[in-house]
Amino acid sequence: MLTIAIAKGRMQHDALELLGRAGVRVSEEALRSRRLAVEDEEGRYRFIFVKPQDVPVYVEHGIADCGVVGRDVLLETGADVLQPLDLRIGCCRLAVAARKGLKVEEAGMLHVATKYPRVAAAHFGSRGVPVEIIGLSGSVELAPVLGLADCIVDLVETGRTLAENELEVVETITESTARLVVNRASYQLKSAAVASLVAAVSGAVNKGREES
Ligand code: PRP
Repeated sequence: MLTIAIAKGRMQHDALELLGRAGVRVSEEALRSRRLAVEDEEGRYRFIFVKPQDVPVYVEHGIADCGVVGRDVLLETGADVLQPLDLRIGCCRLAVAARKGLKVEEAGMLHVATKYPRVAAAHFGSRGVPVEIIGLSGSVELAPVLGLADCIVDLVETGRTLAENELEVVETITESTARLVVNRASYQLKSAAVASLVAAVSGAVNKGREES
């Protein structure tokens, strides 16, 4: 049996829908329950539902053989996991955003609020911009509105959260989509099961692309 860690939240529904199209299905009853570990209908896979930033932790440590998580999280955690497949769901971007009209380049030492301290530090560091990173764990858009920070580094999907808080994108750092990740040892030791999962999911991703 393969254990697959799924990031709870924004991409969970699309990830399960994609896996379902690849023939890897969790029953409706299991999904309705509050159980955090459930098996697929054939007993070939066990799913664990964890916070996005914990997916690479479970996979890197081999507790989960595979995982579904955003590239944004992989960049931030720097986890040592294999990434055989771009799932082309959960499309969004990591961006710098600030209050409308703020000239970020004229702000001197920038105070940057973010859930992505490593990505933010690397981004501004590569440009030689001095920053103080303020780590937050959610509702990051509040920080510039309330004066905690000059700008934020955060995910932008539809752009609605920024717009409704009178913020705007200053710069896109990188694009992100969901990735299938695999533990290095599982890739070797459970090669047949992993290869079969990767092939099935890859087929579902490509079929989805042809249809869209
Ligand atoms: C994410 C992200 C933004 C928002 C962007 O937060 O951090 O706040 O979604 O989405 P949008 O561009 O479609 O508006 P999430 O919903 O994960 O909640 P959080 O603020 O608690 O991290």
